Amino acid sequence: MTQEIASPIRIVALAGDHGALEMKSLLAAHLTAKGFDVVDLGTHGLESVDYPDFADLLAQTLREGKAERGILMCGTGIGISIAINRHRDMRGALVHDAYGARLCREHNDANVLVLGGRTTGPEIAKDCVDIFLATAFEGGRHARRVAKMS
Ligand code: RB5
Repeated sequence: MTQEIASPIRIVALAGDHGALEMKSLLAAHLTAKGFDVVDLGTHGLESVDYPDFADLLAQTLREGKAERGILMCGTGIGISIAINRHRDMRGALVHDAYGARLCREHNDANVLVLGGRTTGPEIAKDCVDIFLATAFEGGRHARRVAKMS
């Protein structure tokens, strides 16, 4: 059972390749059930697609203010995390547990959570998403470090 956590975020964009289709559907349903507005950027089928295209689409969506945070997925999360971090204004965090989900917000002000559809189980993924959306950036010394990256 996922713990209830309040979040100031309302609109979340999801995108991923064919390696994480099931995880994207699961997380979209999870977020919708919790009252978030979900922007599903695809992919929508099992045919093989290129994960950088979905990272680019998600970056554009956040930049245009059509969503407040993003969640990206591919088989391992590795390729799509590399792709999203090519964008100067995106901070994508590839996370495998609740601790990473919390710290990527508190210390890194990550605006995109990245998960591996083939490497992370559904309950852990839901926990990561809930924590990512509910945790605030700590600022202070971390703000200086984050500023150095952009
Ligand atoms: C696609 O088969 C796979 O390479 C992709 O989902 C991802 O794991 C890449 O990093």
